[in-house]
Amino acid sequence: MPEKPQKADPCVMVIFGATGDLTKRKLLPALYNLAKEDFLPHTFAIIGVGRQEMTTEEFQKMVVDEMKEFIPKGPDEKIVKWLKQRTYYTGGDFDDDKKLFGDIKKLISEVTAEHQIPDNYFFYMAVPPSLFGNVTQKLVKNGLGREENGNWRRFVYEKPFGHDLDSAKKLNSDLLRLIKEDQIYRIDHYLGKETVQNILVFRFGNSIFEPIWNRNYIDHVQITVAESLGVEQRGGYYDSAGALRDMIPNHMLQLVTLTAMEPPVSFEADAVRDEQTKILHAIQAFQPESVLDHAVRGQYGAGEIDGKKVPAYRDEPDVAPHSNTETFAALKFLIDNWRWADVPFYVRTGKRLADRHSSIIIEFKKAPFILFRETGVERLRTNRLVIHIQPDEGITLHFGAKIPGPIVNVGPVDMDFDYADYFGDQVATGYERLLYDCMIGDATLFQRADMVEAGWSIVTPILDVWNAIPARDFPDYAAGSWGPEESDVLLARDGREWKNLA
Ligand code: BG6
Repeated sequence: MPEKPQKADPCVMVIFGATGDLTKRKLLPALYNLAKEDFLPHTFAIIGVGRQEMTTEEFQKMVVDEMKEFIPKGPDEKIVKWLKQRTYYTGGDFDDDKKLFGDIKKLISEVTAEHQIPDNYFFYMAVPPSLFGNVTQKLVKNGLGREENGNWRRFVYEKPFGHDLDSAKKLNSDLLRLIKEDQIYRIDHYLGKETVQNILVFRFGNSIFEPIWNRNYIDHVQITVAESLGVEQRGGYYDSAGALRDMIPNHMLQLVTLTAMEPPVSFEADAVRDEQTKILHAIQAFQPESVLDHAVRGQYGAGEIDGKKVPAYRDEPDVAPHSNTETFAALKFLIDNWRWADVPFYVRTGKRLADRHSSIIIEFKKAPFILFRETGVERLRTNRLVIHIQPDEGITLHFGAKIPGPIVNVGPVDMDFDYADYFGDQVATGYERLLYDCMIGDATLFQRADMVEAGWSIVTPILDVWNAIPARDFPDYAAGSWGPEESDVLLARDGREWKNLA
């Protein structure tokens, strides 16, 4: 977002799935934060759409209650009132083109007339992906997809965007038959995180890191997205998805591409996305044999987290009692390009791990030991740069310093940058920037069709092998640990180890 508030375009936001979890936890608090920071246009309205029948008044009450519950430290009444005055609802059967979609069209024209909003709309699909095509088709059929007289119509899709390469391709082609690529905003909420956006600024807005950001200086990269929570109420979805689909082709590959990409020629959407896509194409394809060597899966059994006993994955609600779905995945990526040849990128993600912690660790090569041979120093540690994505957002550089005293000894020390110290506590949900960008038509932080497909092309061979050879030893890690032993073996085989930061 620009430094000085520049208001988003006047528009109507139509949320499909308005009574769901995402709306109350992320979208409403994000809209509130945007209103508070004066980024929302004066002429703005929200239309909630859901299967449930309820009146606008009932929905407004629900929205106000949810804001009270989900906005930390309690919301400002004035802002809540402002939002409430421009919130509407219509409900019904999503399969019924005429009734529900006719009602939506009618409500949009009433709302735009009442608030004098030009015909700019964006449709936010906070619904299961199986509905994306259907809902879009019905909107288009009702004339709500056509951009005319300088007005825009945009469509935002939550992940997962497909469940493998073929389904993602089909979804893309179904949508592209109805609307244009530049009307499509595929969300990956990791790109809404400040720390993720900062990767590019850190790399390209400073001159000291980029010269050493390559195979000559970097030994390897480790990316961890660890969660201590289990599958919560999402067992149904998760059991059919698994950790690999849920996290790797989207969030984890965003982190890989931002860390590995070449400088774009500008921060224009396509310039950035072109460079990210080049990395996706340069990732060495997994062959069936390399899946066995370079991909690890795991599933949590019962265990203990923060002193509390937690159940095994197979005992979670809506999970099949003999489920073979993985709740942990670790992969070794090799990027076949000039900058990264022979520098492995190890990534891992899982549920019910020892701690909630996401980071990117850049492990530099060792300095030559020669100088220290005649001293008491037994070995030199490597320099390490840690980008803390969440929580405790910041960046740490680890290096060696002489321990004061008469003999030469080297001890590990670090330099720390902590977001909270510099910028205060941020209350953002990560969706603020994404919603705002959608309202101003900046697609830089959204996934393009080819990126989504490239992501699925990378993981689909792994899914194929895993489906063909079901895991026999699940559950294979205890809740509260750092995942299955095989994940350690993946790095140990290369003489390396995971750095568990907790
Ligand atoms: C979602 C996944 O996309 O990302 C969840 O579906 C996961 O399973 C979540 O928990 C992690 O997001 P965050 O922002 O909490 O790291």
